[in-house]
Amino acid sequence: MRKIILDCDPGMDDSMAIVMAAKSPEIELMAVTTLNGNYPSEVTCVNARKTLELIGRTDIPVGKGLAKPLFRDVPKDPFTHGVDGQAENFLPDPVMPLDSRDAVDMIIDIVKANPGEVTLVSTGPMSNIALAMMKAPEIKEMIQEIVAISGMFGLNEYAFLNATGDTPQSEWNVYVDPEAADIVYNSGVKLTALGLDVATYFDVNLGEADIQKLAESDRKEAAFLLQAIRFVNSKGHAAYCTVIDCMAVAYVIDPTLVETMEARVGIETKDGLTLGMTVIDRRHHYVWEQLPLVHVGRKADCGRFLQLLMELVLA
Ligand code: BDR
Ligand code: CA
Repeated sequence: MRKIILDCDPGMDDSMAIVMAAKSPEIELMAVTTLNGNYPSEVTCVNARKTLELIGRTDIPVGKGLAKPLFRDVPKDPFTHGVDGQAENFLPDPVMPLDSRDAVDMIIDIVKANPGEVTLVSTGPMSNIALAMMKAPEIKEMIQEIVAISGMFGLNEYAFLNATGDTPQSEWNVYVDPEAADIVYNSGVKLTALGLDVATYFDVNLGEADIQKLAESDRKEAAFLLQAIRFVNSKGHAAYCTVIDCMAVAYVIDPTLVETMEARVGIETKDGLTLGMTVIDRRHHYVWEQLPLVHVGRKADCGRFLQLLMELVLA
């Protein structure tokens, strides 16, 4: 069993990532920590609890995190997850309380109580994780690894075509809080960044047969995903938008699902055209050795990923 904390900003695909993590027999979901990102922190901490109540996992603690990026204002999101942030599933208001600690302290406490054993799965901006590292630098040596939906590396055209930030070549989670990403990328903790190259590759799409299975299921989480697909389709987007963040959880369950490469990556923190870009240095010569080495997702087995996702949703 892999111990994980899922740090997220639900978000329809974050909600599905919560479902996968909570239902996987391979994962011990120690906490869901939330923050501003797809929606304000007031909404994401509610949506995380709505999701856990949907699947009857109110035993998993939820913490509320940062209401804004470390040094910036909250940016505008060109994409919408609907008025409720959950593809207009309009789940009932949660009854379960928030944890008494905030998300940053939860990360610090849980990592310290389980040194070397906790993987942080990041599917939102990295503000909570960066602040936890600033507040308690000693945790950096105690985190097993970080697996993040983060960046776009230009390894294929989907990195560019599906760029989610509000600059031409950025990914939303990095774009929202590039300084936080810069801190985490440079922290020395093993980081696997699954970018848009793999998480939005065109094969990451649920087809008619999957949709049929979701429609026939009596699981509430299957109905949630089905509504999410209908919602994004109605906005002119493909089904992959509903499951982007799930790839990080899937990778923790089965690392053979994504092929990674080690590469040096820098984060653009200057305002303007390139804000939030994850600049990969793949040169044969003169590589900037000062940039951190990151494990970057280069190719995903999309078929097996979707199979795992469907199995967990329908289970
Ligand atoms: C990321 O942006 C958000 O909209 C999704 O939840 C995902 O975490 C992809 O760029
Ligand atoms: Ca997200």
